[in-house]
Amino acid sequence: MKLAHRTWTQVETYLKHKKTLIIPIGSVEQHGPTGLIGTDYLTAQAISEAVGSKTNTLVAPPLCYGMALHHMAFPGSATLQPTTLIQVIKEVVDSFTQHGFQDFIFINGHGGNMAIVTSAFCDLKGLNDERRFELINWWKIPDVQEYEKAHFGDQSGFHATIGEVATTMHTDPEAFKDIENQSFEIERPEHDWPLSAKEFRETFPDGRMESNPGLATKQHGQKIFELTVDSISEQIQKRLDN
Ligand code: NI
Repeated sequence: MKLAHRTWTQVETYLKHKKTLIIPIGSVEQHGPTGLIGTDYLTAQAISEAVGSKTNTLVAPPLCYGMALHHMAFPGSATLQPTTLIQVIKEVVDSFTQHGFQDFIFINGHGGNMAIVTSAFCDLKGLNDERRFELINWWKIPDVQEYEKAHFGDQSGFHATIGEVATTMHTDPEAFKDIENQSFEIERPEHDWPLSAKEFRETFPDGRMESNPGLATKQHGQKIFELTVDSISEQIQKRLDN
């Protein structure tokens, strides 16, 4: 159910019986020495497309770039300013609204986007707007957190987590051909939040935040991906039935 693979006439037909659009949002940023730069949007996109197929819901192309200011001391990272990202979200949503979409579900792969997407929703809702908005942060889903806790204890961490790295091993296995897995020591340095890009790299020199992505495997990734897709699909199906 990729919007990008539909014609405008097919979208017009879809809108006659359904007003919901899923929009994946992620980030382009370092994910430690063994994680992909695209992790956050690759996971959001793959999960969104699987959920779209299960629930017969159209999925927009991903918003790949997010708010990644604190990762900018690592090569390959790119960021939008918070106000730019709010504006991008609003203009994309308003564009699709022109044609009749009224219900927008953002499936997010990046913690740094959460406050920004919520701010954009507040702005879009304004004083008297009937459009519906929902933000789903896939890694926070209770089934996923339970799985990670059961298998990885307190080693999941907060960035370049085992779960997200494992999920990309499942969704984009060819990207890992030239990446050798490593074992990692976990450090838990005291730090304020937010950190500047410079402070982040000084505090977390290899880009991980209290995680051990060395435990990531394709098998865990497949399981986490399936749990995520099932849980979000169920949530969206309930929303569609209401
Ligand atoms: Ni991430």
